[in-house]
Amino acid sequence: MKTPALFSPLSLRDVTLPNRIVVSPMCMYSARDGVADDFHLAHYGKFAIGGAGLVFVEATGVTAQGRITNGCLGLWNDEQAQALAPIAALIKQQGSVAGIQLGHGGRKASTQRAFDGSGPLGDADIARGEKRWQVIGPSPIAFAPGWLTPREMTRADMDDVRDAFVRAAGRAVAAGFQLVELHMAHGYLLQSFLTPLANQRRDGYGGALENRMRFPLEVAEAVRRSLPDGMPLFARISAVDWVEGGWQMPDSIVLARALQRIGVDVVDCSSGGNLAQGATNSNLARGPAFQAPFAREIRSAVGIKTQAVGLIRDAALAEKLLAEGSADLIALGRQMLYDPFWVLHARRELAPLDDFADWPAPYGWWLEKWARGLAGAGERV
Ligand SMILES: Cc1cc2nc3c(=O)[nH]c(=O)nc-3n(C[C@H](O)[C@H](O)[C@H](O)COP(=O)(O)O)c2cc1C
Repeated sequence: MKTPALFSPLSLRDVTLPNRIVVSPMCMYSARDGVADDFHLAHYGKFAIGGAGLVFVEATGVTAQGRITNGCLGLWNDEQAQALAPIAALIKQQGSVAGIQLGHGGRKASTQRAFDGSGPLGDADIARGEKRWQVIGPSPIAFAPGWLTPREMTRADMDDVRDAFVRAAGRAVAAGFQLVELHMAHGYLLQSFLTPLANQRRDGYGGALENRMRFPLEVAEAVRRSLPDGMPLFARISAVDWVEGGWQMPDSIVLARALQRIGVDVVDCSSGGNLAQGATNSNLARGPAFQAPFAREIRSAVGIKTQAVGLIRDAALAEKLLAEGSADLIALGRQMLYDPFWVLHARRELAPLDDFADWPAPYGWWLEKWARGLAGAGERV
């Protein structure tokens, strides 16, 4: 049987992903002082045991101020890097590739953990011990009424944030991660420079598209230069804001070209994050693979590799997206929370290996006998 596209390897610089399935970065809001613990090890490790080609550790703050919530991971000190090292090691030991998303929350930092409401921290949150801090952004415009108003960033602030991204990338390499993704989506700091909804600066970093892209590209360039040549760099973008007068697809094409020139290897195509109705944009009508057309358009217009994400749940759809050239990689978020062994299940659906040879050996040996028994082959189950 022909190997499905979903299970074909992909080489990016010196790193080869064993298949095309990616665990999308997902904040767990469960860290203390930005430090990972046993929960994170078990959480991320299980996706690697489950056969994902690439496991992304969630949006990890490059500064304390850049954390989205009090529970977000960070990489601004060595203790945080040391706590992440066993996670990267376990992912690699299981044959998967270890990636980490680096981000800065910008004006959407200092908020409630998602399961506490995803909004600005309220008095009840502070009473429970959550801390609130001054947030920064391109312009002093709050995300929505009741949210913190960011302090407008000076050029010195931009230097600090750019250098923090570079230092965090260095710590990610030292911790054993094989690739890095820059979070340039969802209304967080780098995307808030891109979109005119959040950036109303009158200096060289606001106004025309070229100006709005200047700081995010500067960060991408500095990180690219600091990484080993053989290490891939991804950038997650919001392909559109879904708002009239906001960021649109033609802007994403221009951005993707600039990212490609800098040496970004994969554009990860998400969307939204600047709608004031809530951090999750849950008011949008969304269907299966609703963002894949963005990945497809950027891939064909720019000739850069893309990652599709968003409501991709079944193996046949994931396979179709690859086969029709919509993307090079397929990322799954919530479906992975629902079924961490999705990859192994997808393989059985698309091209089953009867002997469970693709399963982790300590499971596969037993499952093969179990399956034969269930099929009535006379084995004891
Ligand atoms: C619990 C949770 C946390 C998330 N955290 C992040 C994050 O850290 N960085 C990011 O870029 N997207 C984040 N997202 C968005 C997902 O990566 C993904 O793009 C989105 O959930 C759509 O894919 P899905 O339909 O497969 O879940 C998060 C989503 C969920 C459900």
